[in-house]
Amino acid sequence: MENQALEEIAAAIAHEVKNPLTLVSFNLDILESSDERLETHKNYAMIRKELKKINDIIMDFIYLTGNYSDEKDTVYIVNILNEFKEDLAVSIPDINVSITYDCKNMAIYGYESGIRTIFGNIIKNAAEAMNFAGELQIKAGKIENRINISFKDSGTGLDEKVRDKIFKEQFTTKPMGSGLGLSICKKIAGEHNGDFTLVESPDGGCVAIVELPVVND
Ligand SMILES: Nc1ncnc2c1ncn2[C@@H]1O[C@H](COP(=O)(O)OP(=O)(O)O)[C@@H](O)[C@H]1O
Ligand SMILES: [Mg+2]
Repeated sequence: MENQALEEIAAAIAHEVKNPLTLVSFNLDILESSDERLETHKNYAMIRKELKKINDIIMDFIYLTGNYSDEKDTVYIVNILNEFKEDLAVSIPDINVSITYDCKNMAIYGYESGIRTIFGNIIKNAAEAMNFAGELQIKAGKIENRINISFKDSGTGLDEKVRDKIFKEQFTTKPMGSGLGLSICKKIAGEHNGDFTLVESPDGGCVAIVELPVVND
């Protein structure tokens, strides 16, 4: 979104939608925990999954307008990656995730919510590109004063026709895509004095690479 007024409207709507969404989730929790009927629990799970999709879209808009929900702090990269791996083992068990890293305490200074959004968008794209089954290899390493985090998927790779368009806001090859994910990754990485790229891997699939300045503790 290039237009300042549009950005402000998007931010306002996103914040307004967030409140009822939080309330719906909260009440869903209460209903679910007091409901002993086994057959309804798949309905709760379905509602929760759809609520998460709405929430992700709203968060994308919020990040696109440069607002973070938390304060800057030391952010431990490997911990967050491990949490994503645990979540994926439950939510998309047919994706086999491996994580390798140089040092468990690698950290950056910035917005944890922003870093989570970058990783979440990369993983969502990877999962979609491999139709929710395949391999995701995550590597985190230090190169001089930068942390380099790469996510290699076993998905479709990039079609030649789309290669130079994928970073355009609202460009998508998906029927229900927003085309915002990669723009957001690039924006948040930039706001942390880092960088974000997506390249094709020689053996098919894509590699998303996030580079962020390291903080020594
Ligand atoms: N890991 C990936 N493998 C293959 N194509 C990808 C991958 N990540 C992104 N893309 C391509 O880039 C486009 C833009 O991605 P994104 O900005 O996240 O928007 P969306 O996911 O809503 O389409 C996708 O529609 C897809 O064509
Ligand atoms: Mg996406």
